[in-house]
Amino acid sequence: MTDPIAAARQSFAADLEDLRRFVRFPSVSADPARKTDVQACRDFLVAQLRDAGLSAEVWSTRGQDSVYAESPVVPGKPTVLVYGHYDVQPAAREDGWEGDPFTLAERDGLLVGRGVSDDKAPVLALVKAVAAFTRSGIGFPVRFKFLIEGEEETGSPNLDALVSERLERLRADLVAISDSSWIADGKPCLVYGLRGLVYGYVRVRGPKVDVHSGHHGGPLANPHIELARILAATRAPNGKIKIPGFLDRVRPVGAAEKKRIRALRYDLAAWKKELGLEKTLAKNALDCLLQRWALPTFEVHGITGGYTGPGSKTIIPSHAEAKVSMRLVPDQDPDEIRRLFEEHVKRLSPDAEVRWEVGGPAFLTDPEGPHLEAARRAFLDGFGVKPCLVREGGSIPAVGLLSKKLGVPIVLLPIGLPDDGAHSPNEKFSREHFEKGIEMFVHYFRIVGGTSAA
Ligand code: BES
Ligand code: MN
Ligand code: MN
Repeated sequence: MTDPIAAARQSFAADLEDLRRFVRFPSVSADPARKTDVQACRDFLVAQLRDAGLSAEVWSTRGQDSVYAESPVVPGKPTVLVYGHYDVQPAAREDGWEGDPFTLAERDGLLVGRGVSDDKAPVLALVKAVAAFTRSGIGFPVRFKFLIEGEEETGSPNLDALVSERLERLRADLVAISDSSWIADGKPCLVYGLRGLVYGYVRVRGPKVDVHSGHHGGPLANPHIELARILAATRAPNGKIKIPGFLDRVRPVGAAEKKRIRALRYDLAAWKKELGLEKTLAKNALDCLLQRWALPTFEVHGITGGYTGPGSKTIIPSHAEAKVSMRLVPDQDPDEIRRLFEEHVKRLSPDAEVRWEVGGPAFLTDPEGPHLEAARRAFLDGFGVKPCLVREGGSIPAVGLLSKKLGVPIVLLPIGLPDDGAHSPNEKFSREHFEKGIEMFVHYFRIVGGTSAA
């Protein structure tokens, strides 16, 4: 057999079984109790990459390990570095899952399981595209390198060090990533922008332990009320962010880009329905997408401290803590944003503490650039539809990092759907997208290598 597409199709049933096995590992990077599961998933991936015809190894870090694989040099052909992640968000049945989150279920052509869309089916589809070349016997159209990390969902805390250490081995002509979704079912897209992120917490301290609120109450400030005051002074009910200087560097969106976004004919009503919301802060579809793709945010993820159990417990809490983050857009600088937020909090409440966890800058590439041409043709060949151009509101720390350190184009080729429910209960992935995704990646690699039949 010399046709890699035919080779890919022959293997779809077996590939699905491999996806089932991949999802079975609860590779939750955030949970220290899952460390051995993350390692078992890592080893499974190494075996999958070897089975696809690559030489694979574990690159250990101070946190969760990465998996690296490569093929030999293909003379005269470019090197493509594929990046993805095998770790997943936490999941527990009680969160609203209909079945065990780590047992892949199939309902009406939908595969349900934690991490299936983010990012296991896309990663495995890329591996299986490589396997199709190996089985077809025609050889590789490009030199492959794969870097699949194990802690993207916790903000890739050790990736910077890993990439710096192994930079020479990672050298490539372009980076390909599949870790996001289409704008609608039937509407594939190429992603030319992602938001950045700074993530941390604000902590307000009170008495050294929780104390009786009747015996001591009156002369004491209440940490929760103090924290609420800080948060309320940071974002107005209309969504406006009130951190002085925060918006100063936001790059405005030009008329041409707005026109392109309008032409997407985004279904605002469907989006609201998906979220179960009648009202949002967006005036119309354009406004909604601009706010999600090209404007920064300030969010509170959760507040802890004090008592929230059953019945009444009369205490003044010893502390209140809010986990917060800001999504960033070009040309906001994560360090400057962190400083502006700290100054803002200090002005409001001099004793409040701010601590930072993960973060990274936004990403934006030229949507008209020649580096997207091969991807455009691959979507047409694989899915029969020409992809549109979108930005995305999410963040992938590796993108900014690899772009800066390797200095080569990054191409984002999503195969998920916008209602896949990444990070949510009952996360799903279309079986058809898994299969067509494998075919699309086969086309993509052939086109990049200049050996496509077309
Ligand atoms: N795959 C997502 C990123 C993503 C989501 C891109 C939606 C485009 C659209 C990734 O796994 C993710 O969840 N990233 C985190 C990064 C954080 C932990 C640093 C995010 O965006 O919150
Ligand atoms: Mn992801
Ligand atoms: Mn994710």
